[in-house]
Amino acid sequence: MTSIKIIHSVVEMQAHSDRLRQQGKTIAFVPTMGFLHDGHLSLIREGRKRADCLMVSIFVNPTQFGPTEDLKTYPRNFARDLELIRTEGVDVVFAPSDKELYPEGFQTFVKLRELPEHLCGISRPLFFRGIATVVTKLFNIVKPHTAVFGQKDYQQLVVIRRMVADLNFGIEIVGCPTVREADGVAMSSRNSYLSPDQRRHARCLSEALEDAQAMLNRGMNDAGRLTQAAAEKILSHPQTDIDYIAICDPETLEDIAIVDRPALMALAVKVGTTRLIDNRILDSSEINKGDTHHE
Ligand code: PAJ
Repeated sequence: MTSIKIIHSVVEMQAHSDRLRQQGKTIAFVPTMGFLHDGHLSLIREGRKRADCLMVSIFVNPTQFGPTEDLKTYPRNFARDLELIRTEGVDVVFAPSDKELYPEGFQTFVKLRELPEHLCGISRPLFFRGIATVVTKLFNIVKPHTAVFGQKDYQQLVVIRRMVADLNFGIEIVGCPTVREADGVAMSSRNSYLSPDQRRHARCLSEALEDAQAMLNRGMNDAGRLTQAAAEKILSHPQTDIDYIAICDPETLEDIAIVDRPALMALAVKVGTTRLIDNRILDSSEINKGDTHHE
C-alpha cells in the first residue's frame, strides 16, 4: 500500500495534477469538510473505482457558514480522518488553510440565480454561494475528470450539476446514495453534536420520510397533506423545530402539489440546537400496487 500524499499548497496541488494529466492519468475527486464517516467513505470508494488517481479535500469552508452558524465549533480531527482513509486507496489529501484558499483581497464569488432560492437556501442565504465558489476553486486546483458528491445534500448536488453545465467545467459529476445509521438516521458530521437523547429523537426525520412514502403507496398523493403529516410527526418529538419540509421537482426544486411523478421530499429540522437535513425521492409508481380491479 502506498502512503497518502498530503498537500497544503494550491500551487503544489495544481502542479501535481498537471503532471498526472500529462502522463495521461485520470483523476477522481471527493471534496469534504472532514470529520469523515461512512457516508464520506462510500464516496471515496466510488471515486476509487472511477479513475487512476483519487484526491480527497478536507477543508471547512468559511464562506458557506452564516455569521451565527457553527464554523468555529464544526468538528475537526485531521489525524482521525487520515486513519479512516488509510486503506481506501486515496492518493492525495488536499488540506489547504483558510488563507491559502481565501488570501487577502479575495472578492470573486459564484452565484446561481434560482436553485438557491429553495429549501436550505431560504434560511441560509449565502450557503450555496459559498459552496459554488469553493467547489469551483477546488475544481480549478485539483483538476479532476470526475467528482463525487452525496445525495444526502441533495440541493448541493443539483447546484453543482447546474454550475458544471452552465460554466462548462467538463467534469463528470457522480451522485451517491445517502448512507444511514442502523436506525435510519442519515450519517452526518453534525450528528456528533447530539446528546444521546437528541440522537434518539433525530430518527423522526428519516421516519417522517418513510411514512410519506407509505402514505403515498396507499394513494395519498397530496403534497400538502404529506408534509402536514410529516410536520405533526416531527413536532411530536421534544426539542424539534422545523426549518422546512418540502415536496418538490427533483431538478428545479419548485414545489409540487400532487405527487404524480418522482418528487423530492426534503426537510431540515433542528434537534436541540443542531440543524439536520434529510431527503428521499417519493415514488408514486407504487400507488395501488396489488389492486386487482380491472376494467
Ligand atoms: P461534507 O458535509 O463534509 O460532505 C462531503 C460530501 O459527503 C458531500 O458530497 C456530502 O453530500 C457527502 N455526504 C455527507 N453525508 C453523507 C451520507 N450520509 N451519505 C452519503 N454522502 C454523504 O458537503 C460538504 O462537505 C461541503 O459543502 C463541500 C462540498 C465539501 C464544499 O465545502
